[in-house]
Amino acid sequence: MTHQTPPGTPGLRFPDILTFRDWFAPVRIEADIVDLEVEGSIPPGLDGAFFRLGADAQYPPMHGEDIYLNGDGMLTRIVFDNGHADLRSRFIRTERFKAERAARRSLFGHYRNPYFDDPSVAGVDRGTANTTVHWHAGKLYALKEDNRPMQVDPITMETIGIEDFGGKLDTVTFTAHPKVDPVTGEMLAFSYNPRGTASRETVIHTISAAGELLRSESFEAPYASMLHDFLISENWIIFTFGPMINDWERVKEGKPFFVWDPSYPSRVALIPRKEGVAGIIWVDCPDTVFETHNLNAFEEDGKLHLDHFIARGGWYVNFPHVSDPNPPEKPPFAERWTFDLNDIAAGYTSQRLFHLPGDMPTVDPRFLLSHCRHRWVGTINKQLGPMLPFGPMGPPFNCLAQIDELTGEHQWFYPGPNAAPEEPVFVPKSPDAPEGDGWLLCCIGRRDLNRSDLVILDSLNIGAGPVATIKIPFRLRYAFHGCFVPAAELA
Ligand SMILES: [Fe+2]
Repeated sequence: MTHQTPPGTPGLRFPDILTFRDWFAPVRIEADIVDLEVEGSIPPGLDGAFFRLGADAQYPPMHGEDIYLNGDGMLTRIVFDNGHADLRSRFIRTERFKAERAARRSLFGHYRNPYFDDPSVAGVDRGTANTTVHWHAGKLYALKEDNRPMQVDPITMETIGIEDFGGKLDTVTFTAHPKVDPVTGEMLAFSYNPRGTASRETVIHTISAAGELLRSESFEAPYASMLHDFLISENWIIFTFGPMINDWERVKEGKPFFVWDPSYPSRVALIPRKEGVAGIIWVDCPDTVFETHNLNAFEEDGKLHLDHFIARGGWYVNFPHVSDPNPPEKPPFAERWTFDLNDIAAGYTSQRLFHLPGDMPTVDPRFLLSHCRHRWVGTINKQLGPMLPFGPMGPPFNCLAQIDELTGEHQWFYPGPNAAPEEPVFVPKSPDAPEGDGWLLCCIGRRDLNRSDLVILDSLNIGAGPVATIKIPFRLRYAFHGCFVPAAELA
C-alpha cells in the first residue's frame, strides 16, 4: 500500500463550516436505482435522460476550509422510459479526482489556485468538471469554466476524458455556458484566462453542428475577471464585463480567487458574428453591474435586446468586496437591455423584466435568438412562504416563476416549506410543439426529509403543481445546471 495512514491519524472528517454542514454536507453517493417511486404519471412521450451536474466533495479540503464551487463534479442522470424512471449518479473521473482517490486525501488546495497544492500533483490537471452538463453533436460534456470540457459516456456515465476537439482547442479553459444557435446548430463558446492564469485575453470559439471546432479568435477584455455567461443573437456575440476581478498577485498570496472591486467600470463588448473580433464595439455601462445568468438575446425591428440577470454588487458568499468587510447583498434581477442597431455604440436602455430577485432562468431552447414569449426563473416569493436559511451559494430559491411576456401574467410553483428548487430544465412536448409548450424538470431539495424529488411540471401551467413527482430516496447535493437528451438522440 503506497498511501498507508500512520497509526493514530484522526479519521476522515469534513469541517463544520457552511460549505460542508447539514443540507450541504457532501453526499458522495454513486447510485444505481432502477424504478424510482413516482407520484402521478410521467407523461407519455417524455422519453430520454435528464442530467444535472454539481459540486460534491470526494475528500475534506486540504487547507481546512473551502468554497462550494471547488467540489468535484457529480453527475446525476434520471432516465425516463415508458413511464419508468431510473437513476444513476457518478463522480466525473477528472485527473484531479483520480489522483486524490489514489492518495485517499485532498491534494489540491485553494479554489483555482495552483500555488498551495501538494507537490505530488504539480502539472496534474486541476479541473473539477462540476458546473454544466451539455449535449452537442452526440457528445455529453461536463463543463467548468477554468478547464477544458470533460466528455462523459451518456449511457454508462463513465468519464471518457478531456475534449480538445481533435487537438484544435488551444486554450486550457472553456466556458460552462456555451450557446447553441437553433437555426444553424452551431455552438458558440468562449475561454477566459485561456492560458490558465489571470489574463485579459478572451477567446471565442465556433463549433459546428457536427462538433468540429471551426474558428477561435481572441480579443482583449478591459480587465481579468469572472466571465461566467454570455449572449448570442442572430448577428452578434455579447459579453458583459463586471468587476469580479481576478488579481493574480492576490492568488499567489492565497487570497480568494476573485474580489469585487467596483472601482473598475462595467463594459459591454458587442462582436459581429460574421466579421468577428475585428468589428468589436465597446459600450460603457452607466453603472457597475455583474451579469450572472442569461435568458436570451434577439434582434427585432432594428433593435438588439439582451435579457439577462444583473446584480449591482458581487457574490459575497464566495468572494469578498475589495474594501467593505460587510457589503450589503444586492441580488440579481432580470433586465432587458435594448440597443439601437443603427447606433449600437450609443449605449442601451434598460427595463426590469420581473419584479423579484432571481436567477437560473430558462427559455425554450428551440426559440433562442428570437423573441420568446415564455420564460421560467428561480426566485424568492415571500408571499408564498419564508425564505430558507442562507447556504454556501447564497439565499436558496423558494419557488419557480413562469412569466408570460404577452399577457404579463405570472404563475408560481411553490414546493412547500423547507424545500428549494434548483434550475428548471425545459423539454418540448414534441419537436414541433409551440414555443414554451413543454415540461419543466426541476430537482427539489426537501430539507426536512433529507432527500430530493424531481418534479415534472406542465411548463405553461406550473401553478397546477407537478404532473409527476419522482421520489429520490436520498439527498442530492445542490447542483448547478442540467440538460435533457431525448432518447432518439441517445440511441
Ligand atoms: Fe452558471
